[in-house]
Amino acid sequence: MSYKVQPVSRIAFSSVEKIAIFLMDFLRKKIAELPEGEFFSLALSGGNTPRKIFQYLSSNSSVILPWNRIRFFWVDERCVSPDSEDSNFKMTRLNLLDTLKIPEANIFRIFGEAEPISEAIRYGRILVENVRLNGLFPRFDLVILGLGEDGHTASIFPGATSLFQSDSVCLPVSHPQTGQKRITITGSVINNAETVFFLVTGGEKASVVRRIFQEGIRSDLPASLVSPKDGKLCWLLDAAAASEIDSDSIMHSDS
Ligand code: 6PG
Repeated sequence: MSYKVQPVSRIAFSSVEKIAIFLMDFLRKKIAELPEGEFFSLALSGGNTPRKIFQYLSSNSSVILPWNRIRFFWVDERCVSPDSEDSNFKMTRLNLLDTLKIPEANIFRIFGEAEPISEAIRYGRILVENVRLNGLFPRFDLVILGLGEDGHTASIFPGATSLFQSDSVCLPVSHPQTGQKRITITGSVINNAETVFFLVTGGEKASVVRRIFQEGIRSDLPASLVSPKDGKLCWLLDAAAASEIDSDSIMHSDS
C-alpha cells in the first residue's frame, strides 16, 4: 500500500523493510515524473537506520528503479577519511552505491579528509551548482534525515540550533560530546527541500519522537525545527520508535 505524502505525514511501519519499500515506491513515482534528462537530487544521512535501509535496497536492487537518474549527495559527513569506519560516505558506498553500480558522476561526496572550513565552502558551492535552486538555496527533491536520541538531526546538535537559521548552505561543526569535526548542511537547505523523510527506528528513539510530536518546535530539539517551508515532511517510523505515540495520531502502514 502506498501513501500520498501529505504536508506532514507520520507513518508507522511493522519493519524497516517496509520503510525501505515505501522509500523505493516514492523514488520510483517521483523519478517517473521528472522531465526527460533531469536528475532526482537525493541527500542522505548516516547512521544505523539508513544503513539498514540501504542494505535492503541493495539486496532488492533487481527491483526496477532508474537508479541512474538519481544524484547522490550527503546531509552531513564526519571529517574523516572516506575509508574510515566513521565515514557516512563509506557506509553508503559499501551498503548501497557499490551494489547499484552508481556512476561516479552521480556521486557528490563531502570530502571528509579536507580542511573543514574550506570543505564546507566547497560543498556549499557544489550543491548550488548541481541541485536546482529555490531562491538562494538548493532545493533537494528528497532529504533523508535520521534522529538522534538527543533530538539532533544531520549534524545539528542541541545548543547549535542557530545553524538552522544560518544563511550558509554548509557549515563546519563539532560534535558536542566527542569534539569530532563534521560538515553539515544547514536548516536553510533542509527546510528548502521538496520533501524531507525522517527515518527513525528503535525503541530508544520513542521518547524523543513523542517529545517532538507533542511539544512542537523546541530550540533544544533541532529535529523539531525541520519544517519545509513549501515542501512535505514525512516521519517514517518503525513500531518501536512510534511506541509512545497515540495510535490515532499516526497512520499505520499495513503494507
Ligand atoms: C550522522 C547522521 C546522524 C544520524 C542520527 C541517527 O552522521 O550520524 O547524519 O544525524 O542520522 O544520529 O542515527 P541512527 O539512525 O544510527 O540512530
